[in-house]
Amino acid sequence: MRDTKTTPSVTIFPYRRHDPSSQPTSLYPEYRSTVQRAPRQPLIVLPHTLSEVTGPVYGHGEISETDNDLTRQHAGEPLGERIIVSGRVLDDAGRAVPRTLVEVWQANAAGRYFHRVDDHHAPLDPNFSGAGRALTDAEGKYRFLTIRPGAYPWKNHDNAWRPAHIHFSVFGPAFATRLVTQMYFPGDPLFAFDPIFQSIPEEKARQRLVSRFDLETTRPGWALGFRFDIVLRGRDATPFEG
Ligand SMILES: [Fe+2]
Repeated sequence: MRDTKTTPSVTIFPYRRHDPSSQPTSLYPEYRSTVQRAPRQPLIVLPHTLSEVTGPVYGHGEISETDNDLTRQHAGEPLGERIIVSGRVLDDAGRAVPRTLVEVWQANAAGRYFHRVDDHHAPLDPNFSGAGRALTDAEGKYRFLTIRPGAYPWKNHDNAWRPAHIHFSVFGPAFATRLVTQMYFPGDPLFAFDPIFQSIPEEKARQRLVSRFDLETTRPGWALGFRFDIVLRGRDATPFEG
């Protein structure tokens, strides 16, 4: 049961706080950019007010037909391995979060982003821009058809490579449930060397960012399915990206 705070006109139900061991450490020197950006003062806990427990609402009319199909956004088909990524968005009590916006962005099959600051020496794909969005249905389900992204190098340390990942932004029903994170693929050998992944202290919480192969959504002769459920806040919350 949540503590409640009553104002003259409205009752506020604050969201459960995150367990710090399930979230990335703000200062994780192996992940170099955290040294500059980590807060230097202790954090101040703000009470949830109406501004935190409400948020933007999106309608189906704002999503076009190919927004959740990253393989059909250009004249031809993108290169690479077609995959289906699906799952449910759940709240801190395990209930479905319906009609909420899920956005994704990712590198192409060669590990290159369609972005002007990406200078990785790998080919761009004229048929893949790597961005999509979807609204969850009444049961909190979302689904994307896309291309499996490639691993890519970055300049954090010598011979640094990011494990293949898809970036996710989930709005949820309120500003306090907003989540920006990354989904990984099972069995990636780069996990052990990735300070972004390793900056989450708890192994159990890190594993929540790893999708699982899903034979049920795999389509014969067409595409492998990967399942990625997302929990907004609470004990089982999906960690933020570092
Ligand atoms: Fe990335």
